[in-house]
Amino acid sequence: SNRKLGNGHNQESALQLFVNAKKKINDIFRNIGQYVLEADKFVQDVTSVPECSVIVGPENSEVVHGFCEKIDGITEVLARDHMKVVFFGRTSNGKSTVINAMLRDKILPSGIGHTTHCFIQVEGSDSKDGFLLTEDTDKPKSITDIKQLASALSDVKLQENSLIRILWPKEKCRLLREDVVLVDSPGIDVSPDLDLWIDKFCVDADVFVLVANAESTLMQTEKNFFHKVSEKLSKPNIFILQNRWDVSEMEEDIDQVKQQHIDRNSDFLAEELKVTDKKGAKDRLFFVSAREALASRLNNDNVFATPERVLLPGFQARLFEFANFEKEFEVCISQSAVKTKFEQHTNRAHYINSELRTVMEEAYTKSLSLQDEQMQLRKEKSDRLSHLDRQLDLLTGEVKNKIKAMVEDVERKVSCALND
Ligand code: GTP
Ligand code: MG
Repeated sequence: SNRKLGNGHNQESALQLFVNAKKKINDIFRNIGQYVLEADKFVQDVTSVPECSVIVGPENSEVVHGFCEKIDGITEVLARDHMKVVFFGRTSNGKSTVINAMLRDKILPSGIGHTTHCFIQVEGSDSKDGFLLTEDTDKPKSITDIKQLASALSDVKLQENSLIRILWPKEKCRLLREDVVLVDSPGIDVSPDLDLWIDKFCVDADVFVLVANAESTLMQTEKNFFHKVSEKLSKPNIFILQNRWDVSEMEEDIDQVKQQHIDRNSDFLAEELKVTDKKGAKDRLFFVSAREALASRLNNDNVFATPERVLLPGFQARLFEFANFEKEFEVCISQSAVKTKFEQHTNRAHYINSELRTVMEEAYTKSLSLQDEQMQLRKEKSDRLSHLDRQLDLLTGEVKNKIKAMVEDVERKVSCALND
């Protein structure tokens, strides 16, 4: 039962907000799509009849046809929409370990020294086994190549700003099943290319996690990077994990150190970056041990014995704090993604709907006036007809009279002749 709870099978997670909204908006776009298709067919039918072509002008028929393509485009984007979280921090602070702990599996390479050499994105896949995709080819690679491709220790290493995608079976992980994509990065202290990193990997991120080392204070490199991020994006959602708390917590005066972290980190978020207020900043800060979280989860989920010396005294509180971080994170990322991603789609849907309506209303008024015109024409025609009728009537009357007169005349002449 531990396992089930841990994997979140039994609880409704905050991520369902996004998952459900995505389903709903998909349905809405399917409906709009049908409506647009019908409208397009109607417009084509109408314009193919020469007498009716005035009802929908060529610009409007192009507009309607364009909507079909737009809807197709949006539907495609929608299918790919997900919640994205990006992890940054200095080398060896534990970024890869944090992600592995959240995924409850040792998917990303981690270790001492400079380990992660390029960006690695973990996303869900419907396939049974995991595989890798690199930017140079469509051909999937084996998951076991990850170490060689992404490691700073390897000879054939990729560029720092290149991306490896790990497609990992959704059935193995709730986060991936619920449409979260996690992006690991090389240490921000090893690259001068931070602007490029932001442009390439951060513009569509819903949440940023700064993995800091609790054994030291936030470094200027870390701060500078997030200054850049918040210049380029408006009010990014940033969480700070003070990691390696298992080691730090054994130090002397740890309560004061903790308070110092709290003060400095909330100053950083609230006063420097201005991404939240002082009170809100405290909810974005967590003291954790990714190593313990990962070890205990591997243990709980797979019934392996937790290696000795991994769980240090007081580990329960740190595990609890890690789970708390995840809870806050899930609420934040689903709300943010629904807003930023689906608000755009909803606005487009409104726009398409109202434009389509304008075109249709124009077509309707035009068809009404066309109908009017034709009625008028018919009426004029029928006026002329009845005149003719009347003339015919008169004419036939005259003819009748004439014939009558002639007959009478003949009769009279005949009777006269007989009487003679
Ligand atoms: P780079 O990829 O090199 O930038 O490092 P990273 O930030 O991804 O760090 P990584 O996850 O590889 O962790 C570095 C080392 O620190 C590994 O040996 C981890 O086991 C260890 N480590 C990570 N988190 C913790 C922690 O909370 N406590 C302790 N004691 N060790 C940790
Ligand atoms: Mg790493």
